[in-house]
Amino acid sequence: MASPPCQRLWVWTLLVLTAQLPAALHKCVFDEVQSQVTVVTGPAIRPDAPPSQSTHSVPTGQQHSHSPGRRASPQPLSQRRGAPPQPIRIQIWVSRESSNLSQAEKERLEPAVEEAVGVVSSLLSVRRVPGPLLLRRDINKYCKFLWKNPSTANYNRCGRANRHYRTETCLDVTIPDDHLDGCDVYPEADSPLRTVLRPEGAGVPDTDFLLYLHVQSTDKCRSEPGVLAYAVHCQTDTQGRPLAGVVVICRDTLTRETFSHRSTVQTVIHELFHALGFSKDLFSTWRDCSSSSQAAVGCSPRGRVAHTDGSGQTRIYTQSVVSAMQSHLRSIDPELGGPLENLDAGPGGVSSHWESRVLQGSIMAAALEHPALVRIDPVTLAALQDTGWYSVNLSRAQSLVWGEGEGATFGSLSTCHNNSSSFFCSGSALGCHYLHLHKGECQTDQYLEGCRTYKPLKNGSECWKEENERRSVERDWSGEIYGPNSRCFFSNLTRKESSLSPNSSVEGRCYTHRCVGPNRYQIQVSGSEWMDCPAGGAIQVQGYQGLVLCPDRRLCLYSDVTPPSDYLSTSPASTTTSDSHGTFTSAPSVTGSPANLAAVIRLPAELAVASVLGVTAAMCLLAAAVASYRKHLSPRVRVHAAPQDPGGL
Ligand SMILES: *[C@@H]1O[C@H](CO)[C@@H](O)[C@H](O)[C@H]1NC(C)=O
Ligand SMILES: *[C@@H]1O[C@H](CO)[C@@H](O)[C@H](O)[C@H]1NC(C)=O
Ligand SMILES: *[C@@H]1O[C@H](CO)[C@@H](O)[C@H](O)[C@H]1NC(C)=O
Ligand SMILES: *[C@@H]1O[C@H](CO)[C@@H](O)[C@H](O)[C@H]1NC(C)=O
Ligand SMILES: [Zn+2]
Repeated sequence: MASPPCQRLWVWTLLVLTAQLPAALHKCVFDEVQSQVTVVTGPAIRPDAPPSQSTHSVPTGQQHSHSPGRRASPQPLSQRRGAPPQPIRIQIWVSRESSNLSQAEKERLEPAVEEAVGVVSSLLSVRRVPGPLLLRRDINKYCKFLWKNPSTANYNRCGRANRHYRTETCLDVTIPDDHLDGCDVYPEADSPLRTVLRPEGAGVPDTDFLLYLHVQSTDKCRSEPGVLAYAVHCQTDTQGRPLAGVVVICRDTLTRETFSHRSTVQTVIHELFHALGFSKDLFSTWRDCSSSSQAAVGCSPRGRVAHTDGSGQTRIYTQSVVSAMQSHLRSIDPELGGPLENLDAGPGGVSSHWESRVLQGSIMAAALEHPALVRIDPVTLAALQDTGWYSVNLSRAQSLVWGEGEGATFGSLSTCHNNSSSFFCSGSALGCHYLHLHKGECQTDQYLEGCRTYKPLKNGSECWKEENERRSVERDWSGEIYGPNSRCFFSNLTRKESSLSPNSSVEGRCYTHRCVGPNRYQIQVSGSEWMDCPAGGAIQVQGYQGLVLCPDRRLCLYSDVTPPSDYLSTSPASTTTSDSHGTFTSAPSVTGSPANLAAVIRLPAELAVASVLGVTAAMCLLAAAVASYRKHLSPRVRVHAAPQDPGGL
């Protein structure tokens, strides 16, 4: 029963999202730094009492410890098996080093992190950690040598302490002793005599994942302009599930004039998903629980989950991911695994992001777009389900829209250019972003690799923002209307009496709409009545020449495709219709009573702002471009390579 006190396994993931002008894509370098992080594995709760303390043998799966101060022996396996997964409890611990934040910074930080954690815990359930969560110490740090003779009682125990040992850290964060188990030294190979090097901490109650939050202007933050945040996972349990991680938020992120709450929330969710399992370093430790009804009970290691298909595309082939892809693209092609990004792939072609051409707009694509356009999509949730560590409510996925029903070859380099899909475009014309919330310009980016799609304009492309109407030079003769219920339509309407020389080519224009059924809606242009706009057809408008094209299967089908809620002053026109697409509000209010919070920002009693800890893990640097959304709509966020890591860990 005596597992080595502190087994170690090094895994490092680093994710960097940076804003790079002019493209202003946020780039995620999660994978690049990954190879350097130490991950400590082991039971959350040490099941074995030291032999010197054991007074009787215990039945398998039911172990008791008797040493004073040792708490919460694990519940019997049979009992654990019966407990249904419950929403993951993510405890936020603010690092001591972050204690000098101004009130204004705290007011930006706390709601964003709480909201992100609230979203994640509303999606993922786990078999909860019984008793307080205790992280393990790294024996390679506190111990100078181990007893190596298997025939001695103290085999694999520490024989001599490392005099220089101080504490455990994760990245820049010092883990409080209170969160760590104790460690002992056995000066003699065969004697139960031991010296307590560090007593066991109290652990963190009611916690399944410990998120150390560190707000600093670190070297990494300064190393590239626009880095917003990064994260690592630090410690895993015996089933491989991450138990702790650090999210570093670059302090500039909180002080920028262009700070965006929604972008910050999405950034933190993206990083949490990496740290919780969507990481190429964790893919090989995912578990197959298909023969078990409970997450992580009776599951077997999956082994390799990423394989390359006949066209050279690396994909994740696990059950839920394959079926989510098949239902999304409406294809029964068995080769349809979850496609991984080729451009930031490491050795073996494996990346920690989805391929942007196929899963554009996903929260786990390598580039994050404007927050209104990022989706917590069904394929990402399926992947988290297939880790085996979580039970995921797949019906809470947001509609991805991008590529829906387009078939197995959608998004391939060979098909994106041939006009076979309305999601791609050619030339550089003006049109509409595929969600029709924004006007767009036909553009490519590094992840699209030459495929083009309509991306929001840098400036004023939101149809739902009334203030954009003022700067529209076209509205006088094109009949545009901006507002919460306005959407983008391809149109070449021109007022008959207009003195301006009209542009007769079709381009994106903003008109207001209201839903009358699934995929059925009416529109209104300046001065007109409400008119039916038949999906897939086109209409003429009295007093105007030209046409408005009515998009098919884009409007009044997805109740969760809406402008950001802070722009919805009035009730949305989109009285949505019953449809099969789950609705998940990406911004549930987590500001309610603390009792309802899965996440609590916990402050140590003695500090105004808490102290943090980190164990090892998945790291994510988020770029600043995100912050510039409100003012200048950055078309996308690019992910690029991070500098080679610090190497220290
Ligand atoms: C899954 O989420 C849906 C939508 O929020 C909810 O109605 C349903 O009860 C949830 N199912 C479970 C098993 O929690
Ligand atoms: C695609 O459509 C554009 C504009 O409608 C046209 O100019 C181009 O020739 C078409 N390309 C192909 C391959 O059909
Ligand atoms: C955006 O619009 C503002 C006001 O119209 C203008 O001053 C600014 O230069 C524009 N920015 C870009 C990138 O076009
Ligand atoms: C508007 O566009 C349609 C479709 O391209 C075209 O047939 C029509 O001539 C255009 N009308 C005007 C007034 O430019
Ligand atoms: Zn990432």
